[in-house]
Amino acid sequence: MLSLMAVDDDPLSLDLVQDALALMGLHILTALNGAQARRVFAKSRPQIVILDLMLPDVSGLVLLSEILQMAPDTDVILLTGHYTPESAVEAIRDGACDYLTKPLKIGALRARVKELIHDAQQRQQALRLEGELLEANRFQGMVGRSPQMLALFALIKRVAPHFRVALVRGATGTGKELAAQALHASSPAATGPFVIANCSAITETLFESEMFGHMKGSFTGATNDKKGLFEAANGGTLFLDELGDLPPAMQSKLLRAIQQQEIKPVGSTATKKVSVRVVAATNRPLEAMMRTGAFREDLYYRLSMVEIFVPGLAERMEDFPFLVRHFVAQFAADYGKKLSGMTPRAQALLARHDWPGNVRELENAIGSACMMAYGEFVDEQDLPPFFQRQAGPALITAPPAGVELLSLELLNQRHARAVLEHFEGNKSKAAKVLGVTRSTLYRLLGEG
Ligand SMILES: Nc1ncnc2c1ncn2[C@@H]1O[C@H](COP(=O)(O)OP(=O)(O)OP(=O)(O)O)[C@@H](O)[C@H]1O
Ligand SMILES: [Mg+2]
Repeated sequence: MLSLMAVDDDPLSLDLVQDALALMGLHILTALNGAQARRVFAKSRPQIVILDLMLPDVSGLVLLSEILQMAPDTDVILLTGHYTPESAVEAIRDGACDYLTKPLKIGALRARVKELIHDAQQRQQALRLEGELLEANRFQGMVGRSPQMLALFALIKRVAPHFRVALVRGATGTGKELAAQALHASSPAATGPFVIANCSAITETLFESEMFGHMKGSFTGATNDKKGLFEAANGGTLFLDELGDLPPAMQSKLLRAIQQQEIKPVGSTATKKVSVRVVAATNRPLEAMMRTGAFREDLYYRLSMVEIFVPGLAERMEDFPFLVRHFVAQFAADYGKKLSGMTPRAQALLARHDWPGNVRELENAIGSACMMAYGEFVDEQDLPPFFQRQAGPALITAPPAGVELLSLELLNQRHARAVLEHFEGNKSKAAKVLGVTRSTLYRLLGEG
């Protein structure tokens, strides 16, 4: 039987939790302060903890980190007095799986705990798979060996068992969709569907019908009942691609569906319950868009509880040889050619490019080279003309050792991103270390 510990210095609030969860088949333990909570936790190891952030003897965040230290798998829901997205976001980064605001709504608490029970049961199975998933230099189909990518794999593994919503950010072609798939495949919903909704391709009028479905006859052309993408993703993950392209009016409808896990098809009066994990992706500067009202803050705060940055290829050239090998093998199989790899000089020519189109651009270049190749190894003359030596003097004059030919702006941007990466996306900490304001940091990151 799963057990749950509720920690709160207010006995009435503990009673409320006990009553609300009484019939869910859980063993419920309670603690009135941090010291009691530590004893109860150490003795009974509950799988789920509901933790008030404000305790008399110890900060809830400290207790959270102690609990996760002892048992990283624990699902911890935080209770916060006021709506404080910043501290909640921080807590989620520290490993809490969600937060609820006080006064507690019994329905929301029950729904959340029910999901956690389900997840805890499935986690056992996911854990068994995990060992098989992490081969060398590769995680769930993503190739990578740089510290940034290893950190990204670790982050995905850490949040995948718990997340309900996540936001994947990064420049074009960096692998955002792949990261979203990795999140899904490592989550308890891995056996459910992974449904892609492209927010930039959906017109405003058709958006609701696409997302939430419609009833026959609800508008001209609605000749049949139609299931929306939310329903199609039930029990799995909905990938909202290019979310930054969605108009604000649609954003609020989306937020409601995400938060309430409930949809209303166009032309229907009844709502339907769904259970959908949502991963959104964008390369747009959401912070700047929020300032102009083009992106809704409430949606951003909901999604950014788990925020994953996929770094540009130029910032992680350690991955380059592994990606080259991966793509050569992939295209060799696609084209049915016997290709063993790429010659070092061809690879060196490719490595001089700065890859603004990131991994997708590299994939395309290698795809074309593999098509041209007739030897066992892809060589210089197989590369697209742009990369060959005669393409221009800039490509053959090597810079002095340890110097990369890049602008100060790009250098600043890379450094700012590296520092941000180090703090796992915590912008306040990164800004402090860089000695700049948060808004300067956004500008440095190219998001301002
Ligand atoms: N780490 C990686 N390992 C192997 N393949 C990768 C990796 N990253 C990206 N790719 C490949 O590069 C291509 C682009 O990746 P993906 O579509 O995930 O990028 P994206 O960030 O969603 O791009 P866009 O912003 O243009 O939508 C895909 O074919 C993907 O399989
Ligand atoms: Mg994409």
